[in-house]
Amino acid sequence: MSSQWRFLFFLTILDLLRFILSTSQPITSDPHPQFPCKPPNHNSYPFCNTSLPISTRAQSLISLLTLSEKIQQLSNNATRISRLGIPAYEWWSESLHGLATNGPGVTFNGTIQSATSFPQVLLTAAAFNRTLWNLIASAIAVEARAMYNVGQAGLTFWAPNINIFRDPRWGRGQETPGEDPMVASAFAIEFVRGFQGQNWRFDGGNRYGFGEKRVLRGDGGSDGLMLSACCKHFTAYDLESWGMFSRYNFNAVVTEQDLEDTYQPPFRSCIQQGKASCLMCSYNEVNGIPACAQQDLLQKVRAEWGLKGYITSDCDAVATVFEFQNYTKNPEDAVADVLKSGVDINCGTYFLRHTQSAIEQGKVQEKDIDRALFNLFSVQLRLGLFDGDPKKGPFGKLGPKDVCTSEHKTLALEAARQGIVLLKNDKKFLPLKKNSISSLAVVGPMANETKLGGGYTGVPCKPESLLDGIQAYVKKTSYASGCLDGVPCSSNTGFMEAVSIARDAEFVILVAGLDLSQETEDRDRYSLLLPGYQMSLVTTIAAVSEKPLVLVITGGGPLDISFAEEDPRIASILWIGYPGEAGGKALAEVIFGHYNPGGRLPMTLVS
Ligand SMILES: *[C@@H]1O[C@H](CO)[C@@H](O)[C@H](O)[C@H]1NC(C)=O
Ligand SMILES: *[C@@H]1O[C@H](CO)[C@@H](O)[C@H](O)[C@H]1NC(C)=O
Ligand SMILES: *[C@@H]1O[C@H](CO)[C@@H](O)[C@H](O)[C@H]1NC(C)=O
Ligand SMILES: *[C@@H]1O[C@H](CO)[C@@H](O)[C@H](O)[C@H]1NC(C)=O
Ligand SMILES: *[C@@H]1O[C@H](CO)[C@@H](O)[C@H](O)[C@H]1NC(C)=O
Ligand SMILES: *[C@@H]1O[C@H](CO)[C@@H](O)[C@H](O)[C@H]1NC(C)=O
Repeated sequence: MSSQWRFLFFLTILDLLRFILSTSQPITSDPHPQFPCKPPNHNSYPFCNTSLPISTRAQSLISLLTLSEKIQQLSNNATRISRLGIPAYEWWSESLHGLATNGPGVTFNGTIQSATSFPQVLLTAAAFNRTLWNLIASAIAVEARAMYNVGQAGLTFWAPNINIFRDPRWGRGQETPGEDPMVASAFAIEFVRGFQGQNWRFDGGNRYGFGEKRVLRGDGGSDGLMLSACCKHFTAYDLESWGMFSRYNFNAVVTEQDLEDTYQPPFRSCIQQGKASCLMCSYNEVNGIPACAQQDLLQKVRAEWGLKGYITSDCDAVATVFEFQNYTKNPEDAVADVLKSGVDINCGTYFLRHTQSAIEQGKVQEKDIDRALFNLFSVQLRLGLFDGDPKKGPFGKLGPKDVCTSEHKTLALEAARQGIVLLKNDKKFLPLKKNSISSLAVVGPMANETKLGGGYTGVPCKPESLLDGIQAYVKKTSYASGCLDGVPCSSNTGFMEAVSIARDAEFVILVAGLDLSQETEDRDRYSLLLPGYQMSLVTTIAAVSEKPLVLVITGGGPLDISFAEEDPRIASILWIGYPGEAGGKALAEVIFGHYNPGGRLPMTLVS
């Protein structure tokens, strides 16, 4: 064999090896086979060099991109840049009160099939406990990083929702900390601090530890992020769909004072003290200008409140500027107005489709895009996305064992306990004495429901109903829905069965109120009364039961239950919001005296 042939033979073996290695990659379960800055090919770029400052790395990456590559980064579904080894990135993941499926970034069909479902935010807010809020956000962050590590979530999450719950009809009030700007501000700070990793130390090595002060990492040190939280939806947003109005073109008319005193404080706190790395602008207009084109307000967030991070539009909220609000005469002007106002990324495809022509028409300059990319890349860099193998990063060891832990499930239970509000308790009717109860009847459409998280819920670790929780205390518990079609309760045809079990039992617990059929994203309420025949169900059962009723109210939006407050046949009323996966146990503990309810309403009930 000539030396030339030997060389070729050797090459072929190497190629074969490389081939085997490369084809074996998709078969292995590595969820990040394409992480950026992977040695040996891609780690020579300055943006991969962890000794350089974040800003230098971000600028360097921008300088390597063509205009069309830049434009393709301006969507939640950011396109991969294969020649630089940068994979696609999904900016949109959700984590309002646990990992949620509402965004495309989170999936439950891989190694991890469930995550802890904490109570909906309005109930957690009712605990008025900053420590609790912070701990919940930290726990969600651990599960989020674990899911990222197995390829089932991103690192950028669009929570918390800190709009003021001003209008009681609003379908998303349940997602917020309520009507008070001070409470919403405090919640925002605790959520963001807990979620972005304040409770962790991460120093660039493999070590991580909970509960210690954050240690600066490398050069980007003080800026390091475990995850990115997003303060949304900026601003004065509390209408989904009502009569002829929709969130896509509603114009919120707000005085300057009301804006400063009511709507802005949670956002200011979220950015200034929470140090959130993202802000989302809302669909609605504020005083005639689309929120995402509010140049003065958005620039103030950076210049005065000190936002270090990116600004995203709500999903398709750039398209709406032209298509629903008719604020501009063409798509290019909508893109230009929003981009120049300070928005960096569009959830949706509008920037992808219209930025090129906006540039050609001279409405947008490349420097506008470079600014947006700088903000976006800086956040990705702070998250460690370009620091090499994620497994070797400070959170690389988190995985399935860190999701649905007994610690997290206990915290979900603790949150439900602390949030439940006792609204009425005639003659100390509650707690019931478990051992002296001969039989119990549970009535109501929500009682046998295991979806207890409200809007933005994922797949709970161990879904249980309120009925399950109560039956664990009293075996002899019968159940009837009372409303054959569930919460809408559009007829009284189910009453008979409910009356019959109520007559036969010593005590009756009636679960009434709301679920997502009444209040959710894109759905506001028209009435503050209980849905359909529910009020009639309550009074019918109250009339036949041997002892006075325990009435349990579910849902986020305020209800007018003054009829029950005044009715002596209803001894006790509990508000439980959307209590999450441990709601049944928490409710039972309260009813049977194992936990003394101390929650307070974060919104006004009519009475
Ligand atoms: C990374 O940057 C530092 C500081 O500028 C430099 O000394 C070092 O050589 C760089 N590393 C690589 C691999 O280029
Ligand atoms: C994301 O963008 C890529 C192109 O970069 C496209 O192939 C893919 O279908 C998009 N995914 C979604 C969910 O829109
Ligand atoms: C999980 O679901 C997502 C979205 O529904 C899908 O794109 C992905 O291929 C699925 N993964 C697996 C392993 O089934
Ligand atoms: C607040 O919540 C924490 C965590 O559950 C708990 O340890 C603490 O006792 C609570 N504080 C009050 C005042 O209830
Ligand atoms: C807004 O523009 C659309 C066309 O893009 C048109 O159908 C609609 O009637 C306009 N609405 C108003 C309120 O002018
Ligand atoms: C509760 O709901 C489950 C699942 O929908 C159903 O199988 C069960 O029969 C219901 N229980 C009662 C007592 O109605």
